[in-house]
Amino acid sequence: MLITLSPKPQVREHLVLPIFDKELIATHKALSEKERAFVAAIIASEELSGEFARVFRVDAKSRSVVLIGMGKSADVSEKKLRIFFRRAVRELKTSKIKRADIALVPLAGITTLVRLAEIAAMELIIADFVFNKYKETPKKGWPSISALRLAIPHKPDEKSRITTAIRAGMIIGTETNAARNLANTPGGDMTPTMLAKEAMNTAAQIPGLTCKVLGETDIELLGMGALSGVARGSTEPPQFIILEYRPETYSGKPLILVGKGITFDTGGLNLKPNSSILDMHLDMSGGAAVIHALSAIAKLKIPLHVVGLVPAAENMPSGSSFRPGDILKAMNGKTIEVLNTDAEGRLVLADALAYAKKFDPLFVVDIATLTGAAMVAVGTRLSALFTEKSEDEATLRRLGDESGDYLWPLPLAEEYLEDLRGTFADLANIWKNNYGGAIEGAVFLKQFVDYPWAHIDMAPTMTTVESDKLAKGAKGTGVRLFVELARHFATKQ
Ligand code: BES
Ligand code: MN
Ligand code: ZN
Repeated sequence: MLITLSPKPQVREHLVLPIFDKELIATHKALSEKERAFVAAIIASEELSGEFARVFRVDAKSRSVVLIGMGKSADVSEKKLRIFFRRAVRELKTSKIKRADIALVPLAGITTLVRLAEIAAMELIIADFVFNKYKETPKKGWPSISALRLAIPHKPDEKSRITTAIRAGMIIGTETNAARNLANTPGGDMTPTMLAKEAMNTAAQIPGLTCKVLGETDIELLGMGALSGVARGSTEPPQFIILEYRPETYSGKPLILVGKGITFDTGGLNLKPNSSILDMHLDMSGGAAVIHALSAIAKLKIPLHVVGLVPAAENMPSGSSFRPGDILKAMNGKTIEVLNTDAEGRLVLADALAYAKKFDPLFVVDIATLTGAAMVAVGTRLSALFTEKSEDEATLRRLGDESGDYLWPLPLAEEYLEDLRGTFADLANIWKNNYGGAIEGAVFLKQFVDYPWAHIDMAPTMTTVESDKLAKGAKGTGVRLFVELARHFATKQ
């Protein structure tokens, strides 16, 4: 899908238009007077109210006009703007329209032209995504859009900045989709070894991005007993993926992104019941986000040293599985009593977080589909955020809002540690009551950290939900957030 810029929509092109309260149409700068009258007439005759996310299509002689409700202009937000682009793509595809102009107005006080352009490109690309590589292609091919033109009124000297923003948005959207592709791939085809190969191939194509993979022996030699323990039940060996982007212009400490890479989570000997096992090929979504966040950051040439760590393993029940009661020793020397083999994410992350220390990090963020409890706590529209400092919480929440990967904080207080002490080891991997499971996971991870750190439990946003207006399956959470985070640290240096 090609996305280009123009100051005005073309006269005969199919047109997509946001509609706010009726008044706004009268002053829509992107439209000619004739077009404004045409659209105003449609709105009047259909009594369109501009109700949010409602779509209305009018087919004129040679041209369709798609009107998408945006609610009251006073209540417009970037959140709504994102949904606008997604609805636009869905409508164009169902109407089999291959090329169209999207007429945009600068949203006063909401967003700059540059942000508007980046959000537009990113959302259009994300909305265009479908995971159909396992399906037979229909005779006429899958519905596709070949070109969209963003009609954004702008001055000539603003053109290059807006075009750059469109390109950036396309990179971020494309990498988000690549993460969704990795995550959606069935567990049988996306083993730790395959995930490592994908990371290698991805890095090989991007200048400045390098990838190194540690295999089973290296993992054992490094003393990553928690990662090895989880992997033991599977015939697939664990892999520890290390991606690095280090621009020459930057000499400071690195930002480290750590992503859970469980390529399939059966629960192990504490086997998951019934339907809880179904989506568990997506349990490497955090890892996928890290791999493609690094790709995006390298492609965007953000001036910051960034390292990605993905501990990858498959959690399987078998005669060689780690058992409830087994005691594992993590890389930092701490011992862990495994009370439940289904709490495996925190185990593989423990070793990755301990490994991160080698880099003397500026900041570390881990992202993981860690607990069903996080979904109980926050629902499915945003991810749970854990930070040690309130400034970090504020920064990450803001970046979450700005990136579209929304976050909401949960507590990480010292007292909880009492409940995580092991009887025969330093720590237990679960606590003994059934409450606060998302906090339990975060408090466990904290024991492997001694640098500035945040934890994101992305189980709530592992898959899309109806309100996202995106294709079913992996949502690609994390890529966009990490790009914003890298930009944030890059400008702070
Ligand atoms: N991968 C799961 C968490 C999960 C569940 C992610 C549903 C996305 C959707 C994780 O490894 C897990 O099994 N967590 C357990 C923890 C429990 C054993 C303490 C859970 O949530 O039940
Ligand atoms: Mn599990
Ligand atoms: Zn898991």
